[in-house]
Amino acid sequence: MNVILLNDEIISKENASINIEDRGYQFGDGVYEVIRIYNGNFFELEGHYDRLKRSASEIHIDLPFDRATFQTKVNELRSTNNVENGHLYMQVSRGIAPRNHPFPAKSEPVLVAYTTEYATNDTPPPGRAMFTEDIRWLRCDIKSLNLLGNVLAKEESKKQGYDEAIFHRGETVTEGSSTNVFMVKDQTLYTHPANNYILDGITRRTILDAAKGAGITIVEEPFTKTQLLESDEVFISSTTQEVRPIIEVSGNTIGTGRMGDVTAILQKEFKKRLPNNK
Ligand code: PDD
Repeated sequence: MNVILLNDEIISKENASINIEDRGYQFGDGVYEVIRIYNGNFFELEGHYDRLKRSASEIHIDLPFDRATFQTKVNELRSTNNVENGHLYMQVSRGIAPRNHPFPAKSEPVLVAYTTEYATNDTPPPGRAMFTEDIRWLRCDIKSLNLLGNVLAKEESKKQGYDEAIFHRGETVTEGSSTNVFMVKDQTLYTHPANNYILDGITRRTILDAAKGAGITIVEEPFTKTQLLESDEVFISSTTQEVRPIIEVSGNTIGTGRMGDVTAILQKEFKKRLPNNK
């Protein structure tokens, strides 16, 4: 049976419905998380809870559950659906109210979560990306349901035969349409600082920790499109893509055109940190 979590009830997917006046549906007024499941365990569950709570708080939503309830519920959902490898998607909207832009005087947040099973845990192969102007709002640190800027960029990259769109604001590279972006120059690892221009990725944090452990010099500072094109290695990171080498950007080959040494080390170190990695 495939079940989902709707508020605090686990119900079959067929019996679940979304109210047409849910503000998540009408305004994108809510926040979300995608949490990876490896070998029957959640990866960085605490970090995802903390980020969800922060995103919700930044848009003045009180999460309708505490940390312990969150953990109990997501574990119940995972085990009922018997997902060994895959991910859990969770969103919390401001709730249901007649359509009007200001917050409703009274509304209860609506939580929806469900799981997706993967056939394999293989990291996607090296990919190609294109640059695109970052036209999103200035609070990309909030994991908001409003993803139109990301969706349009990803679609354009797909149409042009690329795997990802890399955003830039003017000359400055920010992040990918659904990933964080890293580059390596002279063995030093560069990535945009975790401020309002990017999402502070859980995978990004794990990579920075792994890099520190491996003695790799880290520079969390903005870098330009030109610096990225002249770098030795580029990779993207996310819950679903892990550490994925990027070997070409907008028609320009990066480094040797193959996965670089630092990326290979970080990919290996990342995998070592996964729960019960087999
Ligand atoms: N995306 N930046 C953006 C814009 C993202 O949407 C994501 C994740 C990341 C990486 O964050 P993390 O390492 O915590 O997954 C960075 C998820 C997977 C998605 O929307 O499907």
